[in-house]
Amino acid sequence: MELTDVAGDLSTVLISEEQIQAKIAELSRLIEADYEGRRPLLVGVLKGAVMVMADLARELKLHIDMDWMAVSSYGAGTQSSGVVRILKDLDSDLTGRDVLIVEDIIDSGLTLSWLRANLETRGAASVEICALLRKPDAAKVQVDVKYIGFEIPNEFVVGYGLDYAEKYRNLRGIGVLAPHVYS
Ligand code: IMP
Ligand code: MG
Repeated sequence: MELTDVAGDLSTVLISEEQIQAKIAELSRLIEADYEGRRPLLVGVLKGAVMVMADLARELKLHIDMDWMAVSSYGAGTQSSGVVRILKDLDSDLTGRDVLIVEDIIDSGLTLSWLRANLETRGAASVEICALLRKPDAAKVQVDVKYIGFEIPNEFVVGYGLDYAEKYRNLRGIGVLAPHVYS
C-alpha cells in the first residue's frame, strides 16, 4: 500500500519508498566492507523489522544467515514500557557467530540495549546493530548502533514494518501518524 492510500491518517510523509531503498543500499555497502569474508547472522526483531530485513538481506552481496526474535516492550499504545519479554527466541546457537541485529526503529533504546546484552551472554564473537530509524530525542539509554538509516523527529511513525495497533505495516514508505488516529 502507498502512503497516499492512507493520506487522511498521516500528518506528514516522512520517508519515501525510494529514499528507504537508497539508504538500504548505502548501509549494505558499509556492511559488506565490514563483514568481508565472513558470514554474519542477521537477527531480525519481529515484527517491525521484517521489511528492513527482507530488503537488506537481498541487497547484501554476502552470504548470511537469518534468524528471528520476538520481544515485547510496548503493548498496544505508543509509549515504551521498558519491560522486555521474549515472545519468540532464536533457533540458532550464537557461539562464535558475528551477530547483526536488524531493527526498524530505536525509540527509548530500552529494547535494543536489553537485547544486545542478552545476545552478548550467548558466546557470540561480535554483536552489532543496524537500525533503519532513530529518534534522538527519545534516547533514555545510550545504545551503540553501528549502522543507522535516518534520524527522525520524536513523533510516532508508521509504515515499512512499523505499526500502530498492528495497522500500517504494509505501507511502502514511512509517515507520521496523525494524532486523531490514536487520541
Ligand atoms: P524502544 O525500546 O523504546 O527503543 O522501542 C523500540 C520498539 O518500539 C520498536 O522496535 C518498535 O516496535 C516500537 N516503536 C518505537 N517507536 C515507534 C514508532 O514511532 N512507531 C511504531 N513503533 C514504534
Ligand atoms: Mg513494534
